[in-house]
Amino acid sequence: MPSTLTAQPTAPAMDAHVVKTYARMPEVFVDGCGAHVRTADGRVFLDFLGGIAVSALGHAHAGLVDALRDQVGKLIHTSNLYRHPYTEEVATRLARLTGLEAMFFSNSGAEANECALKLARKWQRLQGHPERTNFVALEGGFHGRTMGALSVTHSPKYREAFEPLVPCCGWVPPNDVAALQKALETIRPAAFIMEPIQGEAGVRDLSLDYIRAARELCTRTGTLLIHDEVQAGCGRTGTFLAGAQAGVTPDVATLAKPIAGGLPMGVCAVAQPYVHVLQPGDHGTTFGGGPLVLRGALVFLQELEERGLMRAVVERGAQLQQGLRNLQREYPEIIELRGRGLIQGVRLSKGAEELQKALYANGLLTNRTGGDTIRLLPPFVVTEKDVADALAIFAHSLKQVLRT
Ligand SMILES: Cc1ncc(COP(=O)(O)O)c(C=O)c1O
Repeated sequence: MPSTLTAQPTAPAMDAHVVKTYARMPEVFVDGCGAHVRTADGRVFLDFLGGIAVSALGHAHAGLVDALRDQVGKLIHTSNLYRHPYTEEVATRLARLTGLEAMFFSNSGAEANECALKLARKWQRLQGHPERTNFVALEGGFHGRTMGALSVTHSPKYREAFEPLVPCCGWVPPNDVAALQKALETIRPAAFIMEPIQGEAGVRDLSLDYIRAARELCTRTGTLLIHDEVQAGCGRTGTFLAGAQAGVTPDVATLAKPIAGGLPMGVCAVAQPYVHVLQPGDHGTTFGGGPLVLRGALVFLQELEERGLMRAVVERGAQLQQGLRNLQREYPEIIELRGRGLIQGVRLSKGAEELQKALYANGLLTNRTGGDTIRLLPPFVVTEKDVADALAIFAHSLKQVLRT
């Protein structure tokens, strides 16, 4: 852990003038190192949430810190009206990693999805189908909080207070090919948007057969296929895109979360036929793709491509999964283990809320999704010892909650 602590604000003062969109924990985090974070009063947590799938390089990654320090001293922002040295290099790397052709750089996952939805509507218009304005999305899907992304997000708890949203969405249950076929044929949407692994719905895997069938149905019905890879993408499952494990390339993939090492960045990556759909003036962003964030993205992509970080994801993911399987044998209350690589979910028949609180009290940061599932999103730099420590905390917390 770094030895110097920075400023120590107190929790009540921090929240007095903050809009109450989050029920924050009282601890005040001030610094971190690798998979660990430390509070102002010196408590150390093992961070298996990674700022919700963001901190893939861990905290205070030396290469990232050096690059960002250097970049801050050179050039932070230029706007998209001018060129800077990192745009083409990051876009070229992403094209290689995704198999897609061109990138729009945004500031978040929701904005990447906005770009994808707009592109789909304009594509249909250019094809002579201006009436194809609707979207089809999956039950349980989460795509962000902006009006368009929220319109294709399923849970009423996120949507209801803000309706009417973009009017349009047909919902289909995950892994049901017949329902998808019917929706695509009757609704004739502009696009079908899906997460290959539904993170917010409790790390729910879509079957590889379903991902393949969806590709085939979208092609057959002239529907754009958008894979939202904001949470499961960027190498978290052991392949750069989670959908690649089904051998599928979407028409559009959206990325965000870990892609710039913790700086805010999203990407809307489009396949070759759609590269010219959005023209100057159709879409834009003041901050997106600036030199500072793209320098961060370059470090992240170099770590993945040149330093074997995706191999580490597979190895540490297997270790974590094996450890959780061992616990499942002891605790039948663990009814399902979900996910791949370093996105994993532990679904419980009872006690999920209490377990998550116990994990926190015992020094392991996780969260709970889908009501009954503990979600684990450790950094890609997590060590063998970190995983062993997390499993030990898990075992101890399970015992506290379910056996005492
Ligand atoms: C699958 C998915 N899509 C989109 C988003 C929205 O991303 P952001 O919060 O960066 O706007 C999230 C955020 O959790 C997500 O998990």
